[in-house]
Amino acid sequence: LRDKYITAIGEAADENALEALRLAAVGKKGEISLQMRELGKMTPEQRQTAGPALNALKDEINAALAAKKAALGDAALNERLQAEWLDVTLPPRPMRQGSIHPVSQVMEEATAIFADMGFAVAEGPQVDSDWYNFDALNIPGHHPARAEMDTFYMHRAEGDNRPPHVLRTHTSPVQIRHMEGNGAPCRIIAPGRVYRADYDQTHTPMFNQIEGLAIDKDISMANLKWVLEEFFAAFFEIDGIKTRFRASHFPFTEPSAEVDIQCSWVDGQLKIGEGDGWLEVLGSGMVHPKVLSAAGVDPNEWQGFAFGMGIDRIAMLKYGIPDLRAFFDSDLRWLKHYGFAA
Ligand code: PHE
Repeated sequence: LRDKYITAIGEAADENALEALRLAAVGKKGEISLQMRELGKMTPEQRQTAGPALNALKDEINAALAAKKAALGDAALNERLQAEWLDVTLPPRPMRQGSIHPVSQVMEEATAIFADMGFAVAEGPQVDSDWYNFDALNIPGHHPARAEMDTFYMHRAEGDNRPPHVLRTHTSPVQIRHMEGNGAPCRIIAPGRVYRADYDQTHTPMFNQIEGLAIDKDISMANLKWVLEEFFAAFFEIDGIKTRFRASHFPFTEPSAEVDIQCSWVDGQLKIGEGDGWLEVLGSGMVHPKVLSAAGVDPNEWQGFAFGMGIDRIAMLKYGIPDLRAFFDSDLRWLKHYGFAA
């Protein structure tokens, strides 16, 4: 009897089989329970050996049942743990991260460098009146500079004969708006988008400029030169980088100068700050008295310089990018190639 049950318990496949064995052996009508009931019919001598033996057998079988039950439980748990195993050491799939566009980066860098020199940031609208974009800047209606600017005009409603608004062709209108609102003295830069109907390797219909304006009692071209050389040295990280001022003409400055920075081409690669070549990077000059007057600043009391620099242009130079249009194609492969995207 003992061997039969102990073996069967050891081989029980699951908890149901185990329960059937428990009933058959030690349940109310189980074999061992029935035999125990026979004890009453025995002689005291027979009972004295059979009783303890049956009790011991019952205990042994109960213990074997409990042990097997625990073993089956462990096995089930192990099986679940195997099935539901999760490898938390597995590296996660890489996530695509966004990054700042190179033109925005250059815009931020340039703004920070001018901020270090005490220039505050001013802003103006991208759609502006022809007064701010032209007239106030001493570019009257008949002036050839209007035609040269390749201006985008906004439409007026039929019968509305007021002059149309324009997409600003430069950041210079911010000079007027700032002086009008804040008067003199002032020291500001105005970074932002500007528009001209022009498209080739170095021109896009939308591009970015930084306007600079410093007005005070005795500001001169010397201050302008220092500020620009300081800026280019910081921006290109080249101490003592040379600039060249070429006499030029803008209706809103007098005198006017276009500014080049020193560079050279070595094996088709542009090197900034060395060699005997020059690259034009901005227009500048002393603010024209008529411009000060138009903005409500007395030209007998105040004077100052202004400049307008192409941000995308200096970004091209800094990163050695030959085609300006690529900046605005939103081509991830291009951005990655130049290290501008992950
Ligand atoms: N507004 C001029 C341009 O876009 C640049 C400029 C700004 C020149 C300020 C002189 C002074 O070409």
